[in-house]
Amino acid sequence: MGLLHALPLVLFAQCVLSSTTLVHESISHAPSGFKASGSPSPTQEIKLFIALVQSNITGLAKVVDAVSTPSSLSYGKYLTAAEVAEYVKPPPASVSTVTDWVTPNVASVKPFSPAGDILQVSLTVAQAEGLFNTKFGTYTRSADGQSVIRALNYSLPSSVQQHILHVHPIIAFTPPPQRTSKNTVYKRRPTSDRRQLAPCEDIVRPVCIQEFYGLPNKTISGSLTNTLGVQGYNSPDLGEYANNDDLATFLDEFRPDIAGNTFSVTLLNGAQNLQDNSGGLEGQIDIQYTVGIAGDVPTTYLLDGSNTDAATSYMDTINWLLTQEEPPTVFTTSYGNLETDLTPTAATSVCNGYMQLAAIGISMIFASGDGGAANNDQDDCTSFVPTFPPTCPYVTSVGGTFFQPPTAFSSSSGGFSNLFPVPSWQAADTAAYLASIGDEHSGFYNPTGRGFPDVASEWEVFIVNAGGVTSIGGTSCASPIFASFIALVNDRLIAAGKPTLGFLNPLLYSTGRGGLDDVNVGQSSGCGSISGWPAINGWDPVTGLGTPDFPGMLEALGI
Ligand SMILES: *[C@@H]1O[C@H](CO)[C@@H](O)[C@H](O)[C@H]1NC(C)=O
Ligand SMILES: *[C@@H]1O[C@H](CO)[C@@H](O)[C@H](O)[C@H]1NC(C)=O
Ligand SMILES: *[C@@H]1O[C@H](CO)[C@@H](O)[C@H](O)[C@H]1NC(C)=O
Repeated sequence: MGLLHALPLVLFAQCVLSSTTLVHESISHAPSGFKASGSPSPTQEIKLFIALVQSNITGLAKVVDAVSTPSSLSYGKYLTAAEVAEYVKPPPASVSTVTDWVTPNVASVKPFSPAGDILQVSLTVAQAEGLFNTKFGTYTRSADGQSVIRALNYSLPSSVQQHILHVHPIIAFTPPPQRTSKNTVYKRRPTSDRRQLAPCEDIVRPVCIQEFYGLPNKTISGSLTNTLGVQGYNSPDLGEYANNDDLATFLDEFRPDIAGNTFSVTLLNGAQNLQDNSGGLEGQIDIQYTVGIAGDVPTTYLLDGSNTDAATSYMDTINWLLTQEEPPTVFTTSYGNLETDLTPTAATSVCNGYMQLAAIGISMIFASGDGGAANNDQDDCTSFVPTFPPTCPYVTSVGGTFFQPPTAFSSSSGGFSNLFPVPSWQAADTAAYLASIGDEHSGFYNPTGRGFPDVASEWEVFIVNAGGVTSIGGTSCASPIFASFIALVNDRLIAAGKPTLGFLNPLLYSTGRGGLDDVNVGQSSGCGSISGWPAINGWDPVTGLGTPDFPGMLEALGI
């Protein structure tokens, strides 16, 4: 795939330590925000993931292009998860070489991914230090006082190195997924004043979203398999769930025509579906703006209780989706990280996981983040930091806008990846944008990177939380709204006897443009006195290609 573009800090050193051991990855020091705080006990158990070389990931990328590009003969002919596994499963020699090498030195080794391309090993710190010829330390994150056991480099015997992509998370200091990249939930003036305003004048209600985007009230296909998946995280850090009573109150107030609709819940990794009002706001937004917008589309909330690094959390969801008999057709996530939070190798593994979901026909939708162009609160910055997963080419990311006229939300994150090169379906759009801005921000971003977000929708809405109506905002609201739009389009496709949309971007950047309304007013924030990106005619890194236009999309799809 040639996905790796620039490798800040991380070196794929080929420097030889001894005749048989090669340093595989290294960083010069722990990232800022972490302090070395001693050595872990040698008998402490840790869990590591070994990503093995995949047999034909470049072939899978070609298949994904073929099944996702409207002009292709294979458009909509998605693979089964078993067919995908043939492309990503490692060559047998890689499995046996690596398994034979680790087995005497670990407590257990088992497949983590369904295709067996990622192995999970449990071992002690002392065993890991021996296997990977390194020294682990304990590092404490100043933000929350949490400690992780990590090393600054690791080595592999030359006989196994060719079979391994990377081992995770030895040098990765990645935090868990965050509520959008900046963990922001916006609240403005007291809600009571604002509800006196005309319904669609300011903060909007579902009926305004339906009206502006032309969304139908209900589904027509009667399909039970066109489900909309919603990511939740219930770790001690995030503590989210979606409250059933609040959804019921929300529908009574804002969508009486579908009052009584509910959602199903799947619990992963010990998550707790508490219904005691201890949950945060994110779960309420994500469920109320899927169930409350997507009419009767069956909705399922995947609540993950793990508190691992984000790359592992994202892989958990990918593995779950790959193993469902009837996975959701659309899946929305309002959590994310800075691209710099992940090591390039781990980000590439996760992105290749999204490639697998694209191959089986799932539309993966992510909030673009709420940190503007820079994702940096300082008065000064020397670069714009993009967000991940939005920079992975195999997901569709959603920026924020508000009515009326449709205007860019200034905190909408967007920009250009430092890891993933611009894909062919997007190259003309990013080139046109960069030509229009000239030298502005030159040196702050990677002009050859994948641009994001892809699309946008309303960012500020009313929700019900703990029984009361409150206004809230962020791209957290935009992602579930856009996902609901796609789920409703899929419903019409099913009714017309056609396949659902799957990986959206090759469609959106070509014939699907007619299903989006361009936004060319407003701009994102930068940092301090440095401005962000202006929204212009055509694609821009604030509002992407624009907001949903349901009738336009039906016409573009010929239904
Ligand atoms: C990899 O996949 C592509 C696309 O299906 C196929 O054309 C090619 O033959 C495969 N290569 C190998 C080595 O299996
Ligand atoms: C690996 O990390 C250790 C510190 O843990 C350091 O002393 C050593 O120089 C590093 N080696 C390389 C090749 O980076
Ligand atoms: C949707 O429902 C509302 C309220 O029940 C109704 O006023 C409106 O006409 C409906 N819209 C459509 C497109 O059926």
